[in-house]
Amino acid sequence: MPMCRLLCSFFLALIILSSIPASVDGCDYAQSICGAQAPGDVVIGIMLPCHSKVSLQERIRPESFQCSDFDLVSFMRSLATIHEIDEINAAGFLPGVHLGYLMCDTCSFASKALGDVDYMLEGNRTLNVKCNYTEFRPKVKIILGALNSDVSIALAGLLNVYMVPLLSSTSSAPKLSDKLRFPSFLRTIPSDKHQTKAVAKLMKHYDWNWVGVVYGDDEYGKAAFQSFLADAKANNVCLAYQEVLPHYLDNSQAMVRIKQVAEQIRSSSAQVVLLILKSDLVEGLFREMIETNTSRIWIATDAWSRSRSIAQMDSINKVGDILGFTFLSGKSDSFEKYLKNLTATPGGYNYFIEEYKSLRFNCTPECDSKTPPSYCSIPDLKKIKSSNACNFKDPQEQNDDYLVNTLDTSQAFLHKVAVQAVANALKKLLKCNSSLCLGEINFPPWKLLEELKKVNFSYDNQSFFFNENGDFANFYELIMWKTDGEYRKAQRIGNYKVSNQTVEVQINITWLSTANTTNPQSRCSEPCPPGSVKKILNESCCYNCIPCVEGTYSDEPDLNNCKPCESGTWSLKNSTGCKPRTESYMKWRDPHPIVMMAAAAFGILLLLVIFIIFLVYRDSPPMKRAESKPIVLSWLSFPLVS
Ligand SMILES: *[C@@H]1O[C@H](CO)[C@@H](O)[C@H](O)[C@H]1NC(C)=O
Ligand SMILES: *[C@@H]1O[C@H](CO)[C@@H](O)[C@H](O)[C@H]1NC(C)=O
Ligand SMILES: *[C@@H]1O[C@H](CO)[C@@H](O)[C@H](O)[C@H]1NC(C)=O
Ligand SMILES: *[C@@H]1O[C@H](CO)[C@@H](O)[C@H](O)[C@H]1NC(C)=O
Ligand SMILES: *[C@@H]1O[C@H](CO)[C@@H](O)[C@H](O)[C@H]1NC(C)=O
Ligand SMILES: *[C@@H]1O[C@H](CO)[C@@H](O)[C@H](O)[C@H]1NC(C)=O
Ligand SMILES: *[C@@H]1O[C@H](CO)[C@@H](O)[C@H](O)[C@H]1NC(C)=O
Ligand SMILES: *[C@@H]1O[C@H](CO)[C@@H](O)[C@H](O)[C@H]1NC(C)=O
Ligand SMILES: *[C@@H]1O[C@H](CO)[C@@H](O)[C@H](O)[C@H]1NC(C)=O
Ligand SMILES: *[C@@H]1O[C@H](CO)[C@@H](O)[C@H](O)[C@H]1NC(C)=O
Ligand SMILES: *[C@@H]1O[C@H](CO)[C@@H](O)[C@H](O)[C@H]1NC(C)=O
Ligand SMILES: *[C@@H]1O[C@H](CO)[C@@H](O)[C@H](O)[C@H]1NC(C)=O
Repeated sequence: MPMCRLLCSFFLALIILSSIPASVDGCDYAQSICGAQAPGDVVIGIMLPCHSKVSLQERIRPESFQCSDFDLVSFMRSLATIHEIDEINAAGFLPGVHLGYLMCDTCSFASKALGDVDYMLEGNRTLNVKCNYTEFRPKVKIILGALNSDVSIALAGLLNVYMVPLLSSTSSAPKLSDKLRFPSFLRTIPSDKHQTKAVAKLMKHYDWNWVGVVYGDDEYGKAAFQSFLADAKANNVCLAYQEVLPHYLDNSQAMVRIKQVAEQIRSSSAQVVLLILKSDLVEGLFREMIETNTSRIWIATDAWSRSRSIAQMDSINKVGDILGFTFLSGKSDSFEKYLKNLTATPGGYNYFIEEYKSLRFNCTPECDSKTPPSYCSIPDLKKIKSSNACNFKDPQEQNDDYLVNTLDTSQAFLHKVAVQAVANALKKLLKCNSSLCLGEINFPPWKLLEELKKVNFSYDNQSFFFNENGDFANFYELIMWKTDGEYRKAQRIGNYKVSNQTVEVQINITWLSTANTTNPQSRCSEPCPPGSVKKILNESCCYNCIPCVEGTYSDEPDLNNCKPCESGTWSLKNSTGCKPRTESYMKWRDPHPIVMMAAAAFGILLLLVIFIIFLVYRDSPPMKRAESKPIVLSWLSFPLVS
């Protein structure tokens, strides 16, 4: 009997959570799609995925989207948002005002998210069409999300109509900084434009100028790659190759393409490879690298720089060094405590927690059988399932440390900061002092947006405010994946300050790829020593060294042109500097002048002797003849014969 109950409730949960009846009448939007809610005076919308996919079969009828693949990391991010809202309520930050929330699952798909906006703004009434939404006062005043930039771009486009603020903690596409196109969008992170600059500065910091790039063909990858191209050029970093990988791995061509890219990486002399990819593609690529024992220095972008699934791949230590940039992060004890005791907010519900608990704690021995039923095929189900799931009486009452131990909860930091930003803006808007709030609770959302742009608060000892593009442009953390047994673990080693564009490395790195502490190299050509200059071959990073000719010099490594010596100075071939032209005087005691003087004295003496002989014998016949013939002596005899 309890067995039947467990199974039934598991099937029921699956039916409720992953299959949505096609007919409108039978569809309970609240339970099946916007599955977490708590009432409040001011309601905050949350749009984050708890499932990472919708089934993308050919779509004929406008039926509801089928979501699949429960996404633990994103689920944790949504819990951080909800937990922070609960904390603010508990602390009485807004006296007399209770914050509520309504969370809808975007399933990482823009169309799905757009469909939820209607429900968020008008509950289950249909949205009234108006010419002017200035006086539009929906229950949801702001939406926190979305996760990926392509979903945020779509949502921001629609929310512009109502000027309902959209505040993301993860969407970093540079396009979203454009406040003419996305006036209602704000984010608690800098634009990717800064991240690619940080990457180029990091390469310059380590003197790597011959690097490879692999990027995805989605909005995020293409925009970040274009931005990196410009930054690489500005920092004299050259691309050994650039490769594109298709975004959706379901594509049967993808594996073939990954193999081609892996071959390119192996055959190139570039030791440093930048991967602007989502984590599942990085995993595919690394699997190839591990199989072929290829080790490189990998630069991670925020999309995978904290990916646990990559850090825990088998033999991950074979791939070499991994460095990357991430957004601000920070652990929180109260959030970890909440994850160990997951319950919906009192008065509300959270079907995502229920789905997680049934994945983890429901007893499903049939999934271990030889022919498991189809619902067992959820990826990672086996990984998520607790080993003593069959000993629990009520799975929904169970709790453990699984989320805290398997996920990097410090990533949730900026979601908490986003909620803090909203609370601080509300405090201003609702004119709160420490005992009550006087402002109108049912305000139109554009007023909150106005207040949000002006917010300046401090949290966890850091100050936060939006710049003119609606971004938090403070800094990135530089991390390195150090070995942790057979797996890897991210360690913070420095940071990149957006305002003054400097990479700061605070911890000495032990490189895996060089087996000692000297920095690994990734150059097309060896640097030219002083005395020689670069003769560029085909690209600015590839060159031969030629020595400077006489009269020119080079005093630094890697100069493009020899410098001419200033007037009054000179140099030999291959010189690192010029020497002044000095006037030197001979000394009487030096051997050289003594020899010269001696020779000159001897010459004069000889002349004198000849002169005397001439005088003495000037009347002899041979002298008379010589007087007219030998030209050489004629000038000597001239004064004598005239
Ligand atoms: C939605 O509709 C149901 C039944 O039609 C009703 O009970 C519920 O109060 C409505 N919710 C909102 C938010 O309007
Ligand atoms: C829109 O409505 C507001 C308030 O009702 C009004 O002040 C404003 O002038 C209207 N704008 C236009 C363009 O009609
Ligand atoms: C990779 O290295 C392992 C051991 O270090 C070796 O057994 C294996 O053959 C190597 N594979 C390739 C493709 O070189
Ligand atoms: C778990 O949370 C519930 C409700 O928030 C609370 O009553 C209970 O004491 C908590 N349990 C533990 C072990 O913290
Ligand atoms: C808050 O403001 C109200 C109305 O202005 C005032 O009566 C009350 O004393 C204030 N409370 C504090 C703690 O300042
Ligand atoms: C934010 O506030 C801090 C101090 O509270 C101040 O130093 C800083 O200049 C402010 N920033 C902006 C942009 O107003
Ligand atoms: C903030 O900084 C102060 C002094 O630097 C320190 O004592 C305090 O613990 C810090 N607080 C947090 C939350 O980090
Ligand atoms: C960047 O800022 C840090 C600390 O604020 C400062 O020490 C450093 O000199 C600055 N660098 C530049 C290039 O301005
Ligand atoms: C890093 O190494 C340098 C020289 O090898 C040393 O001077 C410095 O103190 C080290 N820094 C740290 C943080 O260990
Ligand atoms: C460190 O590595 C470099 C390059 O691999 C090598 O030339 C050098 O001899 C090594 N130094 C030590 C102390 O092992
Ligand atoms: C430039 O020359 C280098 C060295 O000869 C070679 O490795 C590289 O592939 C060349 N690059 C291009 C773009 O031709
Ligand atoms: C230039 O000088 C350096 C050392 O000063 C020497 O190693 C190099 O061989 C010289 N090159 C030529 C072409 O003479």
